[in-house]
Formats: sequence, structure tokens, C-alpha cells
Amino acid sequence: EKGGHDYFMLKEIQEQPAGVADTLIGHYAGGRIILDEQRLADQELREFDKVFVVACGSSYHAGLLAKYAIEHWTRLPVEVELASEFRYRDPVLDRSTLVVAISQSGETADTLEAVRHAKEQKARVLAICNTNGAQIPRESDAVLYTRTGPEIGVASTKAFLAQITANYLVGLALAQARGTKYPDEVAREFAQLESMPKLVAQVLESGDRVREIARRFAHVPTVLFLGRHVGYPVALEGALKLKELAYMHAEGFAAGELKHGPIALIEDGLPVFVVMPSAKGRAVLHSKLLSNIREIQARGARTIVIAEDGDDTVRPFADHLIEIPSAPTLYQPLLSTVPLQIFAAEVAQARGYDVDKPRNLAKSVTVE
Ligand code: F6R
Repeated sequence: EKGGHDYFMLKEIQEQPAGVADTLIGHYAGGRIILDEQRLADQELREFDKVFVVACGSSYHAGLLAKYAIEHWTRLPVEVELASEFRYRDPVLDRSTLVVAISQSGETADTLEAVRHAKEQKARVLAICNTNGAQIPRESDAVLYTRTGPEIGVASTKAFLAQITANYLVGLALAQARGTKYPDEVAREFAQLESMPKLVAQVLESGDRVREIARRFAHVPTVLFLGRHVGYPVALEGALKLKELAYMHAEGFAAGELKHGPIALIEDGLPVFVVMPSAKGRAVLHSKLLSNIREIQARGARTIVIAEDGDDTVRPFADHLIEIPSAPTLYQPLLSTVPLQIFAAEVAQARGYDVDKPRNLAKSVTVE
């Protein structure tokens, strides 16, 4: 049942190409993005003037990525908020607000209560969920299911990649409704999504290299993660995986914030992951991150750099280099997250922990 793996989570990491591919099935036909359930008029979909994304944990990190895509494609302002904060804050909501609730289980108490609060304020709710018929999709006005199958490992892995995929489908659905993307552009983005499973599989093939790096750092006290733009939520997710699976102190930062405080943490031997943006797609950010790596390396950090294949500029500054295939910026998180999952799982195993059942955690958090 674990497909030859010691743990479900390891199998689920390997299932990610299929999880992304399956999430695309049935969501594009006749030149249009299609939701699974839509209990609101097309006109409503067209006339939203603001989007909130609410979620918890890894689903929140996926939500942070939704902002980049939805704002870019629709020009709608998007706010992303932890569900547990949103519901107690009196957010400005009305019938032209779309609230996107992301939940693998569809039963998370904070996210469900955020949905209820939004509905009381007359906002419309679109759920992204991995569990058919769960409470959150039942109470929502529209639903797009991630179709990655049940996730047994407590830590989110394949659900996370499927959520990113689903977020982008929602972004394209809104762009098509609003006319901010022409049908041929939607088709191009969808084709890009369809090409991702093959690239995710390529990243999985280089897993041995990541596991070897993980074993070297399995007993350090702290690991930091840096990223920018879409690499920033990836850094947060990498840190969360390491905390929950390996019980290790880990923090993710926006690399631009280094000088505003976190650089004080850098000391000799501290491992720091850096998620490099594409050299082609984001040349300016790429050069800024290069100088960040240089700075932290000069202060003794051990740099573990995730960069696009053939990005030779990073080599001199990477104590360890993990190469991923090149992809357009928005899609890179589907690739750059994977080594971080493998890293956390391997460190946890090296420390003798059960990666399917991290201590103190429940798969579905149905109490606040
Ligand atoms: C982390 C993890 C949790 C969940 C969070 C939300 O690996 O699994 O942070 O992402 O509890 O759960 P759902 O998506 O079911 O609402």
C-alpha cells in the first residue's frame, strides 16, 4: 500500500506528477477553464472587484502563490490571509468580494469559520479542496477540486502541488470571465500547466542528491530558507516541512528582508537554502539573490542553492547546488518545492522520526 516506500508521505511525494496532471483533468474543455461546481452566475464571476484568499498552514503557502497569478492575470487586487486571523479582524467584504478558501481536508475549523464569516458579509466563496463533499465545499458558491487522491501522510506534499495547480486554474477562470486574458492566452497557460508533471518527475529523479545533502545536515540545530517573489512562499513551505517533520528550528524569509534583521542570525556553518529565481525570467531579482548568497557565504553560511539547470552564475556561491528544470516564473514553485520536501523527509528519517505521523499534529484540524 505504500508502493514499496517506508512511509506514505514518501509515496505521496513521488505521486506529485500524477497529482498535478489529475488536477488538470476535466478543468479545460472547449477552450474554457471549467470549475467543478458553480452556484453563482457568470456575471458575478466577471464583476468581483477584490479577492481574499484564506487558508491555514501549507494551504496558506499555496494561497500566497495564488496572489501572484491572480493579480497578474486578472488585475484584481488579492489579499492572502491566515484563516485564523481573517475571521477575527472585521475584513472589508461585500457581494463583489470573492473569497477563495483553500483546504485539503475541507474540514479545517478556522477555514470553515472564515468561509461562514465571509458569507454572512455577503461575499461569495470559491473552495479549492481535495475531499469530495467536505464541509467547506458544501458551504461554498463554487468549487474546484484538486484531484490528487487521499493524502495519508500528515504533512501536506502532493496536496500542496495540486493546490498551486488549482489556484492557477482559478486565476485563469477569473481572467477568462473578466476578459483580461484572451482564449489563446488561457490555452497557452493551460498547456504550460500540462507540461509541468513531466518536469516535476525530473526533479524527483534527482532525489538522491537531495537526500545526500540532507544526511549531511541532519543534526544541525537550525536551517534558514530564503526566496523572493514566488520563491518566498516556497521558502516558507520548506521551513514548515522541516519544523513539522524533523522538529528542527527552521525559518523562511523574503531575501530582501535579510538586511533588515535576519542576517544577524548568519554564523559559521549555518545551512541556508536559497531558492533562485529564473535568470532569464527575473534577471533583476536573480542578481539581487546572487548578492544575498555572496553576503551570507562571506559570513560563513553553508549555502544550498536551488537553481535552474544551466544557471552557472550561482556555482561559485553554492556549497551545494540542486538543479531544477527551467520553467516560467509562476510555475517554478511546482518544481522548487519538491527538493525541500525530500530534504525534510530525509532529515526526519535520519533523526529516526515517523514522517507519516509527526508528533503533536493531526491531519485535519477540526478544532480551533
Ligand atoms: C502542513 C500541513 C498543514 C495543513 C493545514 C491546513 O504540512 O499539512 O499545515 O496544510 O492544517 O489543512 P487543510 O488544507 O486540510 O485545511
